[in-house]
Amino acid sequence: MSFGTSAASRLSSKTVLITGASSGIGRATAFEFANASGGDIKLILTARRESALVAIKEEIEKLYPKSKVFPIALDVSKLPEIDAFVEGLPAEAKDVDVLVNNAGMVHGVEQVGAIAQADIDIMFQTNVFGLIALTQKFVPLFKERGRGDIVNIGSIAGREPYPGGAIYCATKAVVKSFTETLRKELIATRIRVIEVDPGQVETEFSVVRFRGDKSKADAVYAGVEPLIAEDIAEVIVFAVSRRENTVIADTLVFPSHQASALIMHRKL
Ligand SMILES: NC(=O)c1ccc[n+]([C@@H]2O[C@H](COP(=O)([O-])OP(=O)(O)OC[C@H]3O[C@@H](n4cnc5c(N)ncnc54)[C@H](OP(=O)(O)O)[C@@H]3O)[C@@H](O)[C@H]2O)c1
Repeated sequence: MSFGTSAASRLSSKTVLITGASSGIGRATAFEFANASGGDIKLILTARRESALVAIKEEIEKLYPKSKVFPIALDVSKLPEIDAFVEGLPAEAKDVDVLVNNAGMVHGVEQVGAIAQADIDIMFQTNVFGLIALTQKFVPLFKERGRGDIVNIGSIAGREPYPGGAIYCATKAVVKSFTETLRKELIATRIRVIEVDPGQVETEFSVVRFRGDKSKADAVYAGVEPLIAEDIAEVIVFAVSRRENTVIADTLVFPSHQASALIMHRKL
């Protein structure tokens, strides 16, 4: 898709850092930025699976020869690695204009009393502490420059907790609260703070939730037509490519069969 020449010129020469870019929404967002900018963009793609990032780099640079993609392994749950990652960014990609905090995950559907401590730790470390740590690194840099965009990927789960999602929902509620505080703290700047909250999107998300059990993941989407990663990528890139005085502060995106975390119309 294309938002036309004004969006392309607003994105022109930007450097965009996307976490969790090896699959799903993060991957689709990388392609969408390349497409909407006409290829005039630098993309720093991070995740744990470096080989997937390298494959995405090759694909994007082939489709958009003006683009430059930097695939860099980063586990956002390992906080001590975040300082070194930011300090070690290649010189030509150091001036990040847009931070997309997308890396996130869910483990399990156990209810309170039966949730493994390891699952609690990994969800908070990835979805909350990693997002906060990376944001803390970029806010001072953006303040120095007087501008920058921070896009945090929340979820319907952060607005409407559901049984079997106590920890995941809590992590996304933290993302919402943190994002709203940040927007208020940065009111005197040109730094835009944007939250995008997806409903149901078919990615690797449910496969991760069910620890690789594809049949359980597929059952989540039985009888419904979920969003695809590109739907959310378009919303992210739309928000970032608005006029600098326009902040798409908060967006909830559902597929048409979904009206809340649990209210869905299934054709079975
Ligand atoms: N799919 C949905 O229905 C849905 C709904 C609402 C919100 N969301 C949110 O959307 C975001 C993207 O999820 P998705 O649906 O695109 O799922 P996905 O396909 O599983 O992608 C998740 C991405 O996060 C990365 N990631 C996970 N743990 C990481 C870590 N410790 N360090 C760095 N990267 C890590 C994964 O890469 P590696 O495994 O290579 O590290 C992957 O690239 C998440 O924040 C999720 O909570 C999804």
